[in-house]
Amino acid sequence: MPVSLRQQLRQQRRQLDYLQQQHAARLLVRRLSRSLRWQRSRRIAFYLPVDGELDPRELLRLALQQGKYCYLPVLHPFHPDRMLFVRYQLTDRLHYNRWGIAEPVPSKARRILPRRLQLAFVPLTGFDRSGNRLGMGKGFYDRAFAFRIGNSRSPVLVGLAHNCQEVAGGLQAAAWDVKMDAICTPSEIIGRI
Ligand SMILES: Nc1ncnc2c1ncn2[C@@H]1O[C@H](COP(=O)(O)OP(=O)(O)OP(=O)(O)O)[C@@H](O)[C@H]1O
Ligand SMILES: [Mg+2]
Repeated sequence: MPVSLRQQLRQQRRQLDYLQQQHAARLLVRRLSRSLRWQRSRRIAFYLPVDGELDPRELLRLALQQGKYCYLPVLHPFHPDRMLFVRYQLTDRLHYNRWGIAEPVPSKARRILPRRLQLAFVPLTGFDRSGNRLGMGKGFYDRAFAFRIGNSRSPVLVGLAHNCQEVAGGLQAAAWDVKMDAICTPSEIIGRI
């Protein structure tokens, strides 16, 4: 994967200003909260945005209000390349990890196996219209959801992206890349959820 494409896409994402981000986040809530998949899902993974990623926190608040079980990714305390999903509630204290991303405390009782999630929102750097995803280049999401490459259908993976993250010519997927079931941008849902 050319480093420059990832960098170029990240730069475009970072250039969005506060109002553009806020507008995009609101459109996202409107689009997704109406979907049947949202209404049916009780265990949902979110993320806290960094580096200009589309902000799902409004959606997270709505989910908590609706009594859904919400999970956030947390770096594994011992395995440097693994990521856990940990339940998050409004009163929880968050701690910053080595990349400056806030995380809940990964106590065993609050963890969920990724395959028990019903819906997972996935951040991305780039996407194409076939659901291929380019992440930040560490493979965390690819490893966490590698079991989806077989015939597992759950959780439904929805990449969240600004329109400017689309790679018009398509992305070359590697064998380990996990495809998204859908990509949701502020203006459309691409694919089926
Ligand atoms: N299922 C897997 N098992 C082992 N290694 C993996 C797996 N998936 C990805 N990797 C490793 O992770 C590295 C980064 O993968 P890739 O370039 O696809 O990252 P990415 O999808 O952009 O990152 P992320 O998922 O963290 O946003 C690759 O070099 C690959 O070897
Ligand atoms: Mg990948």
